[in-house]
Amino acid sequence: MTLANATDSSQEILSVNQLTRRFGGLTAVNQLSFQVRRGELIGLIGPNGAGKTTLFNLLMGLIKPSEGDVFLEEHCITGFKPHEVCQRGMVKTFQNVALFPEMSVLENVLTGALQRVSLDEAKHLAAENLGKVGMLHIADKKAADLTFPEKALVEMARALCTGPKIVLLDEVMAALNDAEMDQILALIRKLRDQDGLTFIVIEHHMRAIMNLCERILVLSFGQKIAEGTPAEISRHPDVIAAYLGQEMKAEDLT
Ligand SMILES: Nc1ncnc2c1ncn2[C@@H]1O[C@H](COP(=O)(O)OP(=O)(O)OP(=O)(O)O)[C@@H](O)[C@H]1O
Ligand SMILES: [Mg+2]
Repeated sequence: MTLANATDSSQEILSVNQLTRRFGGLTAVNQLSFQVRRGELIGLIGPNGAGKTTLFNLLMGLIKPSEGDVFLEEHCITGFKPHEVCQRGMVKTFQNVALFPEMSVLENVLTGALQRVSLDEAKHLAAENLGKVGMLHIADKKAADLTFPEKALVEMARALCTGPKIVLLDEVMAALNDAEMDQILALIRKLRDQDGLTFIVIEHHMRAIMNLCERILVLSFGQKIAEGTPAEISRHPDVIAAYLGQEMKAEDLT
């Protein structure tokens, strides 16, 4: 599905309404509202501490909002526990890859599958999804021995095993070189095009975000300061001032 044929509201998969999270005196996410359509590739950018990871934690039910609501496919999931959110079809990867280091790749991926199916089915699902990300050949390798790109792909396979409709990726491409990043970008596009998955991607690599995403949300101090296509975002004065730096030009980003 492409953005062009996903424009009516019946295609909405996620709706975030006036979401707010305070930590003591700090408002990490502030009155944030946005919608995501099924099959969209959304980028989420903003300076360090802007509230990006906190937003993902709120969406997944890892922390509770101070105010506001989250709807997943028309169902209000505000206050749901993480495993309930996962059962409804939303999953996230962690900013710092969180594989169990002493377990094998297959065992790590199994932990995703076992959340919803029996062991036999889980083994089948784990192998299928390791194949999907091109990592079946390292199924028996210890997670601690993986390279950065392998870890990112194995984390992706584990997330896919939960049977998601929408996947939240928190800086999975950090520490990757350009070629490794391109491999992940191609995989995300394939999963959207072939399986109809929806992605929200937090990433500091501007080239990755600008090339991948159809729409970008920009956070600063917990608030949405801009929303638009990569071209619109790269020329937005508030984004340049808050994030990209005055000296950076749009053509640097593509
Ligand atoms: N559990 C917490 N308790 C108190 N403050 C928190 C907590 N979690 C996050 N914060 C604060 O909320 C703000 C937003 O943090 P968050 O991790 O969401 O930012 P981020 O946009 O993901 O940043 P980065 O790009 O560095 O990952 C920061 O000021 C952070 O210190
Ligand atoms: Mg973060």
